[in-house]
This record gives sequence, structure tokens and C-alpha cells, in this order.
Amino acid sequence: MLSIAILGSGKGSNAQSIIDAIKAGTLNARIVCVLADVQDAFILDRARQNGIPAYYIDCAPFKTKLEGAAEQKVIDILKKHGADLIVLAGFMRMVKSGLLRAFPGKIINIHPALLPNFPGLHSWKQALDGGAKVTGCTVHFVDEGMDTGPIILQKEVPVLAGDTPESLHARIQVQEHIAYPEALRLISEGRLRIEGRRVVVTN
Ligand code: GRF
Repeated sequence: MLSIAILGSGKGSNAQSIIDAIKAGTLNARIVCVLADVQDAFILDRARQNGIPAYYIDCAPFKTKLEGAAEQKVIDILKKHGADLIVLAGFMRMVKSGLLRAFPGKIINIHPALLPNFPGLHSWKQALDGGAKVTGCTVHFVDEGMDTGPIILQKEVPVLAGDTPESLHARIQVQEHIAYPEALRLISEGRLRIEGRRVVVTN
């Protein structure tokens, strides 16, 4: 069975969607641990409420990346729990080469836009400001770049007249909560293969 570890920084609604899919029996996986770089992140409470080992990782002195002693600590915890897939769910740091090398091709992320459009922060706001008619979310493998890894799947979300950044992000999150369990199902069934920069889905 697929052993998933989740890394986050915030409220953890995507982590919840994965927990729910496992409980509903629609995803054959287990969550072996949840790690956060924010001590009071709600994602840690969600883990504890569900009996999942939860860890706060102090990532100082870095503000925007996971490197150095904290990176090693994360690797040690992930290995200790036997994680075979690392799921970034609102983890607000760049993953660097140490973790990438420890789990090659085994780290995925969800991004609130149709990549390669609107990488980086506040993508729903970027979409609004850029006058996009359609945006959405993307599940992708993680590489050294900022939201540049091979794409697993995407869900579209229309931008509506009168949308605010908040209303648009809320509708994107509804699709995220469908997309992440769906992508994980493909992985748990062994149906994804990376060919160069492309992800191939097999039946
Ligand atoms: C999501 O919008 C995700 O796409 C982005 O960060 C947000 C995390 O939300 N990377 P949550 O913590 O899972 O609720």
C-alpha cells in the first residue's frame, strides 16, 4: 500500500481531502506522517485528530526554502516512517536538492493555477489581475524549479464576473480537493510513468 507523507504550512484542507478519500475507501493508501514548518498550522491538528504522527519542523534561519539541518531532519522523519511518496499540500517553501535526491520522482505538489500559467505565490490573484477567463489547479511532480515539474493532471475553474481573489481561490480549492485524491489514486494504482518532462498515464 502507498505510504504517503504530507508537508504543509497552513489550514490543510487538501490534506483533509486525502484523509477523507482514504476513509471513504476511494484511495488505497495510508498517511504515515504530517510535517509543518508553522507551529500552530491547522494541518497538524487535523493530523492529530486522525491519529497521524504530526511534526513541527523549525526551518530557521531560512524563510522560503527547506535546507540545512531542517531538511535533514525532515528526511530522517520521512525515512523513519517509511514514506514512499511526499505530498506537498500548501507547503510554502522551496524544496531543495537534498530532499529531491532522497526521494527522486517521489515528491508531488498541488498548485492553484493551470501551470505553466501563474507559477509562484497568489496565483488566483495573478489570474484575476491578468484577466484570465479560465484558471484552475495542477498536480505535478516537484523538481528544482518553482512549479515547473512534469504535470500529472489539471482541473479548470472559470473566472466569473465579480470574482474576488477570495471567491476565486475558494472555487479553485473545491477542484483541488477532487484533483489531489485523483492523482494519488493514479499513483497508488501504479498508472503513472515519467517520460522526460511528460507524465504518461496508463490504463
Ligand atoms: C492550496 O491552494 C494549494 O494549491 C496551495 O496552497 C493552498 C493550500 O491550502 N499550494 P490547504 O492548506 O491545503 O487548505
